[in-house]
Amino acid sequence: MARLIVDTPGGTYPVHIGRGVLKELRRTMARLEPTGAVVVADASVRAIAQAAAKHLKAARVKNAIYVVPGGERSKSLAGLAGLLAFLERQRIDRGGCIVAVGGGTVGDLAGMAASTWLRGIRYIEVPTTLLAMVDSSIGGKTGVNGVRMKNAIGTFWQPSAVISDLACLDTLPRNRYREAFAEVVKYAVAMDRGLFDVLHRESARLTAGDQDALEDVIERCATAKALVVARDERDRGPRAILNYGHTAAHALEAASRFRISHGRAVALGMRIAANIAFALGLCSERLVDAQDELLTTYGLRDEHPRVSLDRMMAAIPTDKKARRGRVAWVLPRRIGHAVIGQDVPVRLVRRVVRGAIA
Ligand SMILES: NC(=O)c1ccc[n+]([C@@H]2O[C@H](COP(=O)([O-])OP(=O)(O)OC[C@H]3O[C@@H](n4cnc5c(N)ncnc54)[C@H](O)[C@@H]3O)[C@@H](O)[C@H]2O)c1
Ligand SMILES: [Zn+2]
Repeated sequence: MARLIVDTPGGTYPVHIGRGVLKELRRTMARLEPTGAVVVADASVRAIAQAAAKHLKAARVKNAIYVVPGGERSKSLAGLAGLLAFLERQRIDRGGCIVAVGGGTVGDLAGMAASTWLRGIRYIEVPTTLLAMVDSSIGGKTGVNGVRMKNAIGTFWQPSAVISDLACLDTLPRNRYREAFAEVVKYAVAMDRGLFDVLHRESARLTAGDQDALEDVIERCATAKALVVARDERDRGPRAILNYGHTAAHALEAASRFRISHGRAVALGMRIAANIAFALGLCSERLVDAQDELLTTYGLRDEHPRVSLDRMMAAIPTDKKARRGRVAWVLPRRIGHAVIGQDVPVRLVRRVVRGAIA
């Protein structure tokens, strides 16, 4: 069992990681003493929501469960309106809290509701996907999608605790598990050489879902994320490191009309970024190959998606992190270290992207 602390101007909170840590909800309730709670849950993890509700009840916190259909569609203004109406019906006051049980979709939606209901109530993240455990549950970025733009509407609002119980992953589909490793490799290549070595050494155990190995990896990723968020809660500078692989990934997702999954897009996005870095003389070819090999080991093979080069190039500047049409690339220098804010000639981007998707 591991426990780390996220310390930001917007709030300081613990992250509990381990098999069986859901029971930490009781102690969390004793600390927060909420006047009431709503458990917001993804439909595929109803059983976990019920277990969470039991812990709340044991801590004498009156609560109700609100189930949202799984998947990105509930992360909308309509979805937010539905949840806010439920909070109102349940008479959640300023002392109340939300417990978000689900992946990044539910976490973002519930966090957004928490940040706006009565100008802000507390919330707790109980991530049930590997992606949410290593990434979205930490850092307080909340939000819903716009009509066409992902995460267009949002707030910064830190949770009061994150409870990552590995048992929640027991029902997670294999492909979701595998694809989350794209984000794990992101931390390794951009920030944590030690993690890169662990991923290399423990690939058999990790792909098989070994709990000890997994706990170690989640803790390392959470630590990396906490570090960045502590330095730059509001994403004005250093937090951009987390965007490694995401500049091209977002373009790829848009160009494929979201037929390519986020994990696969990030894997290809990191391959593109590493090749750009190599072409600019920023990193060695060895890095490009080592990253490639690691991604392949985790089932993120180098597949060339059938998307139009022009459409993908057109999608790059619309990435919301682009300012005045210029894209700030995050590029690796060596394993465990990347640099942010890199300007790359469009012709070079085009050449590398063509090689990656053709
Ligand atoms: N806030 C942030 O900092 C941040 C960071 C990264 C990603 N995100 C957001 O996170 C979202 C993606 O999150 P995700 O990958 O967790 O996807 P998700 O929440 O959509 O969950 C993926 C699918 O798995 C199902 N599911 C969830 N947990 C399960 C379990 N334990 N067993 C079986 N099925 C389960 C869900 O119903 C859903 O269909 C995106 O909306 C993205 O924008 C946010
Ligand atoms: Zn991502």
